[in-house]
Amino acid sequence: MGVDVATHEGSLYRILSSAVVPRPIAWVSTTTGEGVDNLAPYSFFTVASVDPPIVLFAPVDAPDGLKDTPRNVRETGEFVVNLVTMELAEAMNETSATLPADESEFDHAGLERAPSVVVSPPRVADAQVALECTLHDLLDVGGSTLVLGEVRYVHLDGSVTTDGKLDVRDVDAVGRLAGSFYATTRDRFAMERPP
Ligand SMILES: Cc1cc2nc3c(=O)[nH]c(=O)nc-3n(C[C@H](O)[C@H](O)[C@H](O)COP(=O)(O)O)c2cc1C
Repeated sequence: MGVDVATHEGSLYRILSSAVVPRPIAWVSTTTGEGVDNLAPYSFFTVASVDPPIVLFAPVDAPDGLKDTPRNVRETGEFVVNLVTMELAEAMNETSATLPADESEFDHAGLERAPSVVVSPPRVADAQVALECTLHDLLDVGGSTLVLGEVRYVHLDGSVTTDGKLDVRDVDAVGRLAGSFYATTRDRFAMERPP
């Protein structure tokens, strides 16, 4: 079967979200100009650059314009990416509910906030890794708005570090597949890279 995008009817969402898997999940906290703390998952997410340290996530526009997260980032220039691990998976899913902008997903999902160090939005207290970011750039790509953020401060819980370094073997991260399917990162294997 081949899909010619030029003649394909409807959205490519199903194909793209099922073919590009598993995707890491940026659980993004922001604060509105009025001081309401927002939290939402975004799995169109990756590292864009290491030097400078830039991460990027891609909110698809809502029918009535920008989703709360990109709107808050545009307004305040700050956000935090929290790591989703297995014990936080259900709470993460709850924060994907479409809530009014004046209602905080932290409270909706019963999540504790922890203060950030260099940005105003709080981080998820139970997240083992959190990246405090300032806005690097916003790029319009058709019906999506790419958010690029520069990482300014990294929180690492002691449970995921070995000798002071982040140890991926201790990171019980959850990845998004498509629809309601997710993957754990528990089934690991190692391969040495060729020289
Ligand atoms: C695991 C997961 C990943 C998601 N990834 C994206 C994404 O990459 N882009 C997007 O626009 N929406 C994504 N969503 C949907 C948003 O989380 C949802 O629209 C949310 O209400 C947006 O919240 P906000 O308006 O507070 O930013 C995802 C939902 C889930 C559960």
